[in-house]
Amino acid sequence: MMGIREMLATDVDAALAIINAAAQAYRGVIPVDRWHEPYMPRDELEGEIANGVMFRVAEDDGRLAGVMGMQDKGAVALIRHAYIALAIQRKGVGTMLLRQVASLAEKPLLVGTWADASWAIDFYRRNGFALVPKEDKDSLLRKYWSIPERQVETSVVLGDGRWMEARQSNAAKGGT
Ligand SMILES: CC(C)(COP(=O)(O)OP(=O)(O)OC[C@H]1O[C@@H](n2cnc3c(N)ncnc32)[C@H](O)[C@@H]1OP(=O)(O)O)[C@@H](O)C(=O)NCCC(=O)NCCS
Repeated sequence: MMGIREMLATDVDAALAIINAAAQAYRGVIPVDRWHEPYMPRDELEGEIANGVMFRVAEDDGRLAGVMGMQDKGAVALIRHAYIALAIQRKGVGTMLLRQVASLAEKPLLVGTWADASWAIDFYRRNGFALVPKEDKDSLLRKYWSIPERQVETSVVLGDGRWMEARQSNAAKGGT
């Protein structure tokens, strides 16, 4: 049976295996100069945990099936590092994990992904997210993510319904 739970230190090896297998989807799709292998080295994942990314895992009969994180950034929370085991993608596990991870943050949610990862953009759209306007996305990426400028250029940001509402009410008040 599929369940969602907190990621433990003992899950790191299995989580890395899922992440780096699922990230093969990016190969040949994202800009060549941004691809590296393994896509997520162990020290990067451990660094993300140390930086406050709270990970949840999906587990199917004792086997890890997916990984997803949430990072609280004050005014907003970010969905980070969403990866489902190749064999069980498109069966609803990502949606289940996203709901669980989103419920950890009672605040507007943002997610960044590669502009060319159309499947990921579709996945978030199906789950109530919308692409943020181009004039906002670079400043959001610079404010909330620690990524090189080249990745800012080649990424998009999606916001959930709460984020879109907050943006509209700020605009109505004349804010930014
Ligand atoms: C994106 C991802 C996390 C979604 O998890 P999932 O369990 O496969 O997604 P769900 O089954 O809950 O939702 C499926 C929907 O997501 C989108 N989707 C997921 N994988 C897709 C693919 N390979 N091709 C096209 N659409 C895809 C579609 O909208 C799909 O709906 P459909 O099957 O009816 O067309 C997972 O596919 C994955 O790990 N992909 C590779 C890594 C990645 O891109 N991560 C996103 C990082 S931000």
